[in-house]
Amino acid sequence: MHATAPSDIQIDTDRLAAPAPHVEAYLAAYLNSRPMPDDLRNAMKYSLLGPGKRMRPIIVIRSCEAVGGAIEQAMPAAAAIEMIHCFSLIHDDLPAMDDDDLRRGRPTLHKYTSEAMAILAGDGLTALAFELIVDRTPDTALAGRVILELARGTNDMVAGQVYDTLGGFDPDLTDQQRLRMIHRHKTGALMLAACRMGGLCGRADDAQLQALTDYAEAVGLMFQIVDDLLDVTQTTEQLGKTAGKDVAQDKLTYPAVLGLDASRSEVERLRVEAHAALDHLGDPATPLRELCEFLAVRTR
Ligand code: IPE
Ligand code: IPE
Ligand code: MG
Ligand code: MG
Ligand code: MG
Repeated sequence: MHATAPSDIQIDTDRLAAPAPHVEAYLAAYLNSRPMPDDLRNAMKYSLLGPGKRMRPIIVIRSCEAVGGAIEQAMPAAAAIEMIHCFSLIHDDLPAMDDDDLRRGRPTLHKYTSEAMAILAGDGLTALAFELIVDRTPDTALAGRVILELARGTNDMVAGQVYDTLGGFDPDLTDQQRLRMIHRHKTGALMLAACRMGGLCGRADDAQLQALTDYAEAVGLMFQIVDDLLDVTQTTEQLGKTAGKDVAQDKLTYPAVLGLDASRSEVERLRVEAHAALDHLGDPATPLRELCEFLAVRTR
């Protein structure tokens, strides 16, 4: 079994990103196989196959493998979560939301097509994600469990976007409590779904699923704190999305509430917590350890 020693882990970015082309090919094949208007397909492809990191599908695949499953078992869930993630990005960028012109180094979908098409492509990707899981999972009981995880994650993500964009908190909550609510929902929820869907696809037992859940709780919050930090420390060119957006829009973020140093300490604390959660899973969880390291130090 692995000791909790994050500093021992080497990040090999090629190995880390190795599942990404498989996910992209699977997504492209599914989109091409599905009748729909060409303009809608092109809009979905633009968003879905743009140059993203594919972290959520990779987490699904590595979580499946961490409990003894194979990559093929995880592919429908991996592809489906990237659809939900892309829908969340398309709608996050809309004028009524963060009003962004740049995403993944290119015009946002509503700039590339139209606002109506961006709204509809997001709507369509949401339904398509669930359709794909049912369509490509022969075991209907498993499909049901995977769908439940993804549906919960999607609804919690939407709740997080409501907190982020419209507020509506219990007035007794401190800024720090509000921040955790926003981040755990808007970003953590899909990370949690990714880990648990992967675990379910790999036929995890209860203890394995709990280990993946604990890992996801830490990594999900860490991911959004890093996103907040990058927004204030990186350039637009480096990020491929508009830097300095959070301050400009007066968002509740970790750097704004805690400052840079305390935010970085929080990343460090969560990183150690994530590694500790994986101890139970032993060697097959090494790619998840490597992913955690990468997510803590990523620069885009
Ligand atoms: C961006 O997610 C949105 C957040 C939840 C912070 P990613 O940083 O995973 O974006 P892509 O998919 O790589 O573009
Ligand atoms: C994004 O949070 C959360 C979702 C898309 C659900 P942000 O608004 O911080 O993401 P970026 O920085 O635009 O990618
Ligand atoms: Mg946002
Ligand atoms: Mg945004
Ligand atoms: Mg951000």
